[in-house]
Amino acid sequence: MEVFVLLSALLCVQSSVSSPVSTADQAQGFLERYGYLQKENESHSAAEVRSAIRAFQRWSQLPVSGGLDRVTLEKMSSPRCGVQDARGQRVSRVFSGRHLRKKRFAQTEEKWHKRHLTYRIMNGPRNLSPSQVHVAVKTAFQLWSNVSGLIFQELQQGPADIRLAFFEGEHNDGTGNAFDGPGGTLAHAFFPFRGEAHFDMSERWTLNGLKGHNLFLVTAHEIGHTLGLVHSPVRHALMSPYYKKMGSNTLLSWDDITAVQQLYGKPPGDSVQQLAGRALRWTMQDWQEEDSKGGSLTPPYCQGFFDAVTMDEDGTVLVFQGSRFWTVSNGSVSAPLPLQMRWPQLSLAIEAAAFSPLDSKLYFFKGRRIWRYSGSDLDPGFPMKSSDLGLPNHSDCAFFYHPLGHMVLFRGSRYYVLNLESLSVEPYYPRALHDWKGLPRGLNGALTRPDGKLYFFKEQQYWRFDPGKVRITAAGRWTERLPWIGCQTTSSLQGNDIL
Ligand SMILES: *[C@@H]1O[C@H](CO)[C@@H](O)[C@H](O)[C@H]1NC(C)=O
Ligand SMILES: *[C@@H]1O[C@H](CO)[C@@H](O)[C@H](O)[C@H]1NC(C)=O
Ligand SMILES: *[C@@H]1O[C@H](CO)[C@@H](O)[C@H](O)[C@H]1NC(C)=O
Ligand SMILES: *[C@@H]1O[C@H](CO)[C@@H](O)[C@H](O)[C@H]1NC(C)=O
Ligand SMILES: [Zn+2]
Repeated sequence: MEVFVLLSALLCVQSSVSSPVSTADQAQGFLERYGYLQKENESHSAAEVRSAIRAFQRWSQLPVSGGLDRVTLEKMSSPRCGVQDARGQRVSRVFSGRHLRKKRFAQTEEKWHKRHLTYRIMNGPRNLSPSQVHVAVKTAFQLWSNVSGLIFQELQQGPADIRLAFFEGEHNDGTGNAFDGPGGTLAHAFFPFRGEAHFDMSERWTLNGLKGHNLFLVTAHEIGHTLGLVHSPVRHALMSPYYKKMGSNTLLSWDDITAVQQLYGKPPGDSVQQLAGRALRWTMQDWQEEDSKGGSLTPPYCQGFFDAVTMDEDGTVLVFQGSRFWTVSNGSVSAPLPLQMRWPQLSLAIEAAAFSPLDSKLYFFKGRRIWRYSGSDLDPGFPMKSSDLGLPNHSDCAFFYHPLGHMVLFRGSRYYVLNLESLSVEPYYPRALHDWKGLPRGLNGALTRPDGKLYFFKEQQYWRFDPGKVRITAAGRWTERLPWIGCQTTSSLQGNDIL
């Protein structure tokens, strides 16, 4: 039992019940709890305590004074994960005066001896739906599998390597691991091979980071422990013991990545895939319960970016994100609408969409497939395989190009021209993207406006392309410059119309 207590990782957070560290006794309790002083409830000599403070200061990258100065007490009072910074076994080494390991990345000796791990979500919190939890957990595992040789598979039943469960209070983990109600301890996890992460059922779990605790972030940190990672002294690391909000940058630092790769190797093809925190935040938000209704004047894609965009024959702009879409016509934007209500059988989180004025049909692209709709009816024979049409998997964007009378698809450094009558790629394509004079790779979407100008979008930027001049004639932030995308309030729109 004691082993489990030593190996458990408890994540604590601000609003927490835990009191600030301000006295020497409290500081000694902190040093004992997090593994800087070896034995609990024993008297330590002043020299032992100073040495432990120095070890803590070194680990936390504070000035090493050996005294309880202001920054040291502040750091000790910061919200943090409860797992020891120096693992149980290493405490004596730290304590014996030798410095903490110079190895900068954090890992234990325990690791799974296989690369393919299964996980199972045993139950969920009260205020998130099962599908929200599913997406948060899946994305948290993806974060790690995208940068390592690991593969994760979710199981609905039966024994899984890693199990995630929500508990209230005491849950047969030992009294030290009992959950403490809202605030304080949020979750804890066990190193291999116990494969368990426990979450406090009485927290308000959220995915948008406004109120409550971000389940995605906490899950990602706890998964790190179930894989064998210990705390990292690197401030920006996900495995840092100190809780932080989800920022715009990538969640995993080089230190997290080095640690997981030391244990499980690199991803196939050596290609580390990591979305920016910004993108993840909006992916999560899409799944958040709609409790912020009426709070914000603009739709959520205005703060992040969208999956795809197109314009139909009435000049209505369609913006796609996750499971939803919005229509923008005459400068006013609709409420979010469920994708599958308008286009049954369509996959969620599409990658590209394009309306064709040739046949008045809407084309969607995702992964290896293409969907074609007449109104809300999926055309017979669809979805088709991209490869059957000579197209690549995972298009970046698609748009109807009037000068050619065909559909154009961008993918990486190349573009394809699709003949919509024969449903085949035109001869001599794909060609290199630099035909498009300076457009970047990896665009989110593209459309043609009624004046014939093309607009390309990537994250928060847009480029206007003039097909007559064959060059880019404007660029900037679309939320600010393009009122027809629906990110400005009605009043400012009216202003633009008068101008
Ligand atoms: C140390 O003392 C505290 C409070 O007196 C007690 O709760 C805890 O169980 C003790 N720990 C050990 C290892 O004896
Ligand atoms: C993992 O990589 C895939 C493929 O590149 C990407 O679609 C996905 O968004 C990435 N997930 C995360 C959490 O970075
Ligand atoms: C947009 O405005 C035009 C002209 O004022 C009008 O004819 C059209 O019906 C409007 N469209 C929508 C969808 O309201
Ligand atoms: C698309 O993906 C499938 C399955 O992963 C693969 O067999 C096929 O070769 C891919 N097509 C292209 C053009 O890369
Ligand atoms: Zn932790």
